[in-house]
Amino acid sequence: MSGGDAVRERALRLVDLAARDARGIVPLVLAGDPVLRAVTLPYDGQLADDELAALLDVMHRTMRAAPGVGLAAPQVGLSVALAVVEDPLADESRERVPVPFRVLVNPRYEAVGDELARHEEGCLSVPGYAAVVARHRGVHLVGHDERGVALDEELVGWPARIVQHETDHLGGTLYVDKADLRTLAAVG
Ligand code: NI
Repeated sequence: MSGGDAVRERALRLVDLAARDARGIVPLVLAGDPVLRAVTLPYDGQLADDELAALLDVMHRTMRAAPGVGLAAPQVGLSVALAVVEDPLADESRERVPVPFRVLVNPRYEAVGDELARHEEGCLSVPGYAAVVARHRGVHLVGHDERGVALDEELVGWPARIVQHETDHLGGTLYVDKADLRTLAAVG
């Protein structure tokens, strides 16, 4: 079976699983599962438009239910370069501003400038913990959205942090790889 067929089969299974759940969500994959450590396949149209829309709906609902501000496809067991983000909150001290729901397809980022920002973050796949991660304060984001429109933009502050965290997931990297583990704290 080709990688593309496996992605489609797994995606349709997730949509089916969510359809049988009262909240329309699927279970999160937790640290320790190899899918979180794999480099994802690029998304290259493995799904029909309606199938992709249905998968992204499932990811959106699952992210909201968690709740979280980002979710990458490996976190629902799907090794393909798709992520969703949405952050309703604002917090000036962290340069956090509301981010409307959006989809990242094959995202990549590069640092803009050499300034780092140090803030605590967590991950839905590493529940119960948070740690400080030094990340680029600003990044240049490229990739596509779910309609195939090219992304080419600069982000700063918390939105840049979310994009770095989710894009890292697609390369098999978890925030704990970059965190100052002496700051690791049990939360919630
Ligand atoms: Ni995460």
